[in-house]
Amino acid sequence: MKKRISFAGPSITEKELSYVLDAAKNGWYEHYDDYTKRLERTFADYIGVRYALATHCCTQALHLAAAALGLDENDEVIVTDFSWVATAYAVAYTGAKCVFVDIDPETWTIDPACIRKAITKKTKAVMLVHTFGHPADMDEIMKIAREYGLFVIEDAAPAVGAEYKGRRVGSFGDVSCFSFQGAKMTVSGEGGILLTDNEEVYRRACLLASMGRTDSKSVFWSDALGYQYTMGNLAASLALAQLERVDELMDKKRELFDGYDKRLKDIPGIRMIREKEGCKSNYCYPSILLENKTQEQRDAILAGLKACNIHARPGFPRMSRFPVFEQRFENPVAASVEQKGVSLPSAANLTDEDVGFVCETLLSLLKTV
Ligand SMILES: Cc1ncc(COP(=O)(O)O)c(C=O)c1O
Repeated sequence: MKKRISFAGPSITEKELSYVLDAAKNGWYEHYDDYTKRLERTFADYIGVRYALATHCCTQALHLAAAALGLDENDEVIVTDFSWVATAYAVAYTGAKCVFVDIDPETWTIDPACIRKAITKKTKAVMLVHTFGHPADMDEIMKIAREYGLFVIEDAAPAVGAEYKGRRVGSFGDVSCFSFQGAKMTVSGEGGILLTDNEEVYRRACLLASMGRTDSKSVFWSDALGYQYTMGNLAASLALAQLERVDELMDKKRELFDGYDKRLKDIPGIRMIREKEGCKSNYCYPSILLENKTQEQRDAILAGLKACNIHARPGFPRMSRFPVFEQRFENPVAASVEQKGVSLPSAANLTDEDVGFVCETLLSLLKTV
């Protein structure tokens, strides 16, 4: 069997091992949250915001974001239709209604023109995703948000280090959230972080993340229906070591993307998803659209790759089609990515030779399927 070409996976060095070992040995007693605090400070400074709260996973950070902004069943939130479902469920947990809109065919991020069309009297917020590390169109989105008085939540789960016009994503909206799940660029197994410049939102998120505990009337007193959503020191030690290597990890992703780009960019029927001018993608998941294939053919190509031990992924199904949601718009671009989109392997342990093998296999499948 050929080497497994994994879709994603981290690079772990002596640095990570030494931080984790230190946390396991010494991260107790008065040091029980040293790494969590360091991770929060370092991440906030890196993105350029004032407050950070580390959570057990990004889904929880997104839920806290929606709850801390006070969203509830009277509200509508405009959500990109193309994402992992955590993006939408975080909104739905508050009772607010998700109104799913279409994406830009060049970046697969939410289309600002579609946001405009979906606004009603009930609209309270926009939930965008920096899809696969490509920045959403923040100038347009923030302009619309200001015009209509909407909150903006940036789901930046895979997008650490990505930039829009020289500014890091995660620093534009009212709240932003990143993930350290094992397939992301910087990992801690499971992990997430919420960022904001708004002190009140931060305080509210902290309260909700720690079971609403205030100790106001007695020890263990709780003043709000909260959750146990905080990140432990051990996971934080791993996430911190990874964050301190983020430039190197981004270079690796770009090298892999360049390897795909040089081999695939001139192939008819393949559309490479690449950063727009003025934007820096972190190329967390290099992706393509198989323009001339049907969904069945795309799936057969993915199966053909898998038979060669190459693990690629299909585009997300539109969340608006899930049983718990209602579909207000058809969203044809998201539909085409659902049917014809492929994200290519970009695990940190891949070489240019591996990328060459993926492309060769893909090109031969394109001819036969
Ligand atoms: C866009 C997006 N949002 C949210 C999440 C949820 O992150 P987590 O697994 O850390 O809860 C993911 C994870 O894959 C994601 O890709």
